[in-house]
Amino acid sequence: MHLLLINGPNLNLLGQREPSIYGSITLDSIELALEEKAKEAGVKLDCFQSNCEGALVDRIHQAIGKVDAILINAGAYTHTSVALRDALLGAGIPYVELHLSNTYSREEFRHNSFLSDRAVGVVSGFGVMSYHLAFEGIVDYLSEDEGT
Ligand code: DQA
Repeated sequence: MHLLLINGPNLNLLGQREPSIYGSITLDSIELALEEKAKEAGVKLDCFQSNCEGALVDRIHQAIGKVDAILINAGAYTHTSVALRDALLGAGIPYVELHLSNTYSREEFRHNSFLSDRAVGVVSGFGVMSYHLAFEGIVDYLSEDEGT
């Protein structure tokens, strides 16, 4: 099983960015912990972060035919990007949308997502645990696929 973790804009600032909302853990630590978890589960995990919409689209295209599923925290692009939605649907790769914060308990402009309706699942509001829950959920989902 091969997974790709994608983090969008401003998530490179985790640790210093609005810690009351996003906590104090850095993206490096999140990625390291997930890589460790993946290793234990026998899963190959690639991690990618960019602040640029086009770079995120390019990375999704590169994953075609190589990756079984994508875990994506698209940051603010979740609420704005038709291009990211089109890239994910065009790639035909199952994906999980995830967020550290509960976007539905925040400003109204964060209530819309261009990704949710076509995601395998959405995890929002559990802080760093959102990454772990998304990982566990998609591994379970793909394992069930393999069994049928
Ligand atoms: C976020 C929520 C988004 O609304 C915000 O723009 C982010 C982070 C989260 O992980 O909670 O950058 O995706």
